[in-house]
Amino acid sequence: MTKFLFVTDLDDTLVYRTVGDDSALAELNQLLKRHRQEYGTKIVYSSGRSPILYKELQAQKNLLQPDALVLSVGTEIYLDGSDTPDLDWSEILSPGWERETVLSITRKYRELVRQPDSEQRPFKVSFFLEQDSSTNVLPQLEAELQKNKLNVKLIYSSGIDLDILPYSSDKGQAMQFLRQKWKFAAEQTVVCGDSGNDIALFAVGNERGIIVGNARKELLQWHNEHPSDYRYLAKSFCAGGIIEGLKYFGLLE
Ligand code: GLC
Ligand code: MG
Repeated sequence: MTKFLFVTDLDDTLVYRTVGDDSALAELNQLLKRHRQEYGTKIVYSSGRSPILYKELQAQKNLLQPDALVLSVGTEIYLDGSDTPDLDWSEILSPGWERETVLSITRKYRELVRQPDSEQRPFKVSFFLEQDSSTNVLPQLEAELQKNKLNVKLIYSSGIDLDILPYSSDKGQAMQFLRQKWKFAAEQTVVCGDSGNDIALFAVGNERGIIVGNARKELLQWHNEHPSDYRYLAKSFCAGGIIEGLKYFGLLE
């Protein structure tokens, strides 16, 4: 066994968002904790949640202390339990990010309903957008943002959440930043996810990928359109699916 970089989404990947049996989580936590102690494996949680909503989840579920916490869809990286986002990462996201201009454009779309204030972040603006409206609204909005030379990225997840981020950021870019910082090869890195905002984790390079058995249709569709030997589609749900995948890749015994 050797060390690896473990990067996982939280909601409906590591833990069940609403109801579900988190018993496999305790087993996975044990395995990862031991691997970290014995081999120096690094554990990263990568979530769409803001710090406030992450703390809520932390109070409800049995989570480990991660070596790095990636929040707000990859726009904030917290190292070693720090309360302040990593400045090197913020500096990469700043150039060309015009939050106010983005907002002045999104205001014109009545289909876009602002998410709670806690989820509006320095490098992320987020809305609810119904799936039915999304087919019309997303291409229009994207074209208008581009016309205004705004260097942004639209990420649509779970048929409801729309995030607008700096073009240089997403969960995949944040993962690569950490991978390079800690000098893990792609083949020593594994990423896990279930929904739209996780596609970037799987799409960015040749890292090993685990798609949990309960994945959302937008991710499954992307997976079918972009097949790869480096990606494993698990049968089990959430943490159970992650254990299955880690064994498949020979990262756990
Ligand atoms: C989390 C965040 C939300 C975001 C969603 C999808 O639920 O709280 O702001 O839109 O993830 O990325
Ligand atoms: Mg998720």
